Amino acid sequence: MSSHPSASGVTVWLTGLPSAGKSTIAGALAGLLRRDGREVEVLDGDEVRAHLSPDLGFAKEDRNENVRRIGWLAERLAAHGVAVLIPVIAPYADGRDLVRRRHTDRGLRYFEVHVDTPVEVCAARDPKGLYARQARGELRGLTGVDDPYEIPTNPDLRMDTSRRCAQDCARDIQAALFGGTPR
Ligand SMILES: Nc1ncnc2c1ncn2[C@@H]1O[C@H](COP(=O)(O)OP(=O)(O)O)[C@@H](O)[C@H]1O
Ligand SMILES: [Mg+2]
Repeated sequence: MSSHPSASGVTVWLTGLPSAGKSTIAGALAGLLRRDGREVEVLDGDEVRAHLSPDLGFAKEDRNENVRRIGWLAERLAAHGVAVLIPVIAPYADGRDLVRRRHTDRGLRYFEVHVDTPVEVCAARDPKGLYARQARGELRGLTGVDDPYEIPTNPDLRMDTSRRCAQDCARDIQAALFGGTPR
């Protein structure tokens, strides 16, 4: 018999600049965890914005409110044993810290990954063309360029994706979370 489901629940927040690799790594990690028989939910930034926070913009208050809502939902899922993966920029330390505190206050496991890809590498990748649009003056408020990104001071894991492939990054997170032991 498995232990109480909440024992395996965890929220994994992948924070970092646009194009850092958050979504790609979350997708790879989801595959690894599902193969281990875990329940996984991915709350990706773009989808969440469309479904949970269509009313919000990109000012500090709005970005933090978006983070707070995602964190609230993650708590509920993690309490039922789900591994909740959240590839969302979350640029402000106070917004991230609030989500951590709410989890730990309820005895829920919380794990912050700083996807620490240098901005030059992010701008060269630019799969969505955001950096190019910012450079052409068509977009303002791009995190890490002309909008703040507060670097996490004490993440549970920090990774520079310019040196490793997404699959390896996902494996590193899996090992840090569960020590490689299948469920
Ligand atoms: N080690 C790596 N981890 C994650 N993505 C990587 C890595 N190396 C290269 N990439 C590429 O970088 C891009 C990251 O895009 P994406 O995952 O959408 O970033 P984000 O969700 O952080 O905005 C993708 O095109 C991906 O293939
Ligand atoms: Mg993404």
